[in-house]
Amino acid sequence: MPDLPRQQTPITGNPIGRYGREMPYPILKWAGGKGRLLPELVDRVDLAGQFGRYHEPFLGGGALFFELYRSGRLPAGGARISDANPNLMAVYEGVRDEVEGVIRRLRMHSKLHSKEHYYAVRERFPEDLRGQAARIIYLNRTCYNGLYRENKQGKFNTPMGDYKNPAILDADNLREAAKALQEAEIATASFEEILNHAAPGDFVYFDPPYVPVSDSANFTSYAKNGFGEREQRLLAETMRELDKNCVKVLLSNSMTPLIQELYQRFTVDTVYAPRLVNSKAGGRGNVEEALVRNF
Ligand SMILES: C[S@@+](CC[C@H](N)C(=O)[O-])C[C@H]1O[C@@H](n2cnc3c(N)ncnc32)[C@H](O)[C@@H]1O
Repeated sequence: MPDLPRQQTPITGNPIGRYGREMPYPILKWAGGKGRLLPELVDRVDLAGQFGRYHEPFLGGGALFFELYRSGRLPAGGARISDANPNLMAVYEGVRDEVEGVIRRLRMHSKLHSKEHYYAVRERFPEDLRGQAARIIYLNRTCYNGLYRENKQGKFNTPMGDYKNPAILDADNLREAAKALQEAEIATASFEEILNHAAPGDFVYFDPPYVPVSDSANFTSYAKNGFGEREQRLLAETMRELDKNCVKVLLSNSMTPLIQELYQRFTVDTVYAPRLVNSKAGGRGNVEEALVRNF
């Protein structure tokens, strides 16, 4: 497959990549990815009007960040993107700063891909940033279910998936994503640190690990540290602080009594999104989600 973008869309001028999608789209498949809620989220961003800088402190796959860049909505002030997971943030840093090196490594992984190669890569931790970024992208593209999962020691422990022809290298999109990432300050940080970075007039999008809708849908351990009720309460407090400081805040979560209690002073919209994780317990069909905003 040639590495140069092949086509552009007439309206935005954005190049079209694999799957007929306008680029850039997210680099990684990520648990809790917001692809399906994007129209609802973008509507709220538009509702907020102008803002200084865009912050996304639970970045994950960064669906909204890439969408805002793609649609020309990222403000001139740029973005600050962060997540508590250092392996994840190394991917974005690597793609931003060394995209051609990441592409070369992925080309190599693509050639060598086999069960032996997968497990060897899973056990190795490269020292250089491009190697770290390519490792996570490769594992994410080839692992079971494309679900990022770490054990208590912070080690990636997902077995290999059963894909006939996994799309390991998507060079066009990586180059377009690198352009989006040039606009961003990238950090590994827990969400509370947002209080040191968001200024009045900025916009913050919080997409935390969701409150489980039932016990069997407990899906709160994305990384080595879980995200329980204590963290949900601290997040609500953080939103109140930002609100006092005239920062515009949008937050997504499941529609549960805890969320209704924590955010009662703000506008809570109910939206419906088809959910793929949580195959049991209310996970089929459309699920109610809460979009909380202070604007
Ligand atoms: C629901 S996912 C975000 C999904 C993302 N919006 C997307 O579209 O792919 C939640 C993210 O929160 C991160 N996370 C968990 N605890 C955190 C914390 N205390 N501070 C910051 N990020 C955290 C996880 O690593 C995970 O990437």
